[in-house]
Amino acid sequence: MTPNAGCFDFVLPTKVRFGPGQRTEVASEIRQRGFERVGLVTTEEIVELGLHEELTEKLRNDKKKVELFTGVTSNPHLSDIKEGYKVLQEFGADCLVGLGGGSAIDVTKGVSLCLANQESDLVYLDRQSENVKPALPFFALPTTSGTGSEVDYWAVISSPENNQKLSIGMPQMAPLTAIVDPELTLTLPPELTFFTGIDAFSHALEAFFSSESNELSDMLSLKAMELVFESLETAVHHGDNLSARGDMALASTLGGAAMQHVGLGLIHAMSHQVSGFYDTNHGLANALLLTNVLGFNEEATPERTELLEKQLDTSLVEEIDQLLEIRDLSDYQVTLDPEDLPEMVKRAINNVNAETNPRTASREDVRELFGASFEVEES
Ligand SMILES: [Fe+2]
Repeated sequence: MTPNAGCFDFVLPTKVRFGPGQRTEVASEIRQRGFERVGLVTTEEIVELGLHEELTEKLRNDKKKVELFTGVTSNPHLSDIKEGYKVLQEFGADCLVGLGGGSAIDVTKGVSLCLANQESDLVYLDRQSENVKPALPFFALPTTSGTGSEVDYWAVISSPENNQKLSIGMPQMAPLTAIVDPELTLTLPPELTFFTGIDAFSHALEAFFSSESNELSDMLSLKAMELVFESLETAVHHGDNLSARGDMALASTLGGAAMQHVGLGLIHAMSHQVSGFYDTNHGLANALLLTNVLGFNEEATPERTELLEKQLDTSLVEEIDQLLEIRDLSDYQVTLDPEDLPEMVKRAINNVNAETNPRTASREDVRELFGASFEVEES
């Protein structure tokens, strides 16, 4: 039985074009919609790999003006958005393309919203969210399979001055079109494939156990988890396997659509604090929290776990153990400073993702979960 059985709203504001080779459709859509000045938001790494070249060439052949903004960092900062806003406002972009992992797509969301509202401060716009104009139209082209950001209207942005990761979301920030082409992920290295894949899995798992879950989100989450169980290991070890890459790209999109509607849980509420304080890779922080948070939630979720195991014909804990063994996590220990812990605990409890965790966590619970999942320095 789902917590909200029988009564829910479900809107997916973003058009999805999925499949190998679909990336070329970005230029067609830009042509059909009559956009003339395209701001391409991406990272230096993507440019070094040349993943932007095919698109920029097509756009220029169509006589479109293209400006690159490559100032997106991993765990992107509010300053990335301010800088992107400045560059692309000066250029006079009438649409944007976000090409990259979740960081590039999240920065594109922020810059698009800022451009439409002529305001460089995304936090200010978030505070006024009921009165802000919809973002400049933008296209999301993920080059990783994990974030789900291509189909949701949330951006996770760091504010390094106070070690915070802000989850900023509003319907006005939804991508116009998500173009999910698994061929763009074929060159993603094994480590990143693993960590982004664990992120996709965490979205599906937390959406399934969310206190807001419904029948439709369950279908998306269950299918996403099934795809990750089937294909993550192959995608990590045989990156050129297009079928496995396709499964992981679909898992990411389905998990993203599920979390957009029903929220996440304590894994994300806590992992954002670890990344905010220590700049830890998001998928890694999720991987280290996964088993402990699942164990904590267990007493509140026996029926849901039974349903999941019946639907997927598997033992959840065993499957997750196998997933986490794809890489040796002991190589990736993250150490927390005990002086940071009180603030991290407070922020995790107040994080939007904690609101839909199936079991309410006290400060002491969260403190224990941090201690069980990470090394804590001797004070
Ligand atoms: Fe995530």
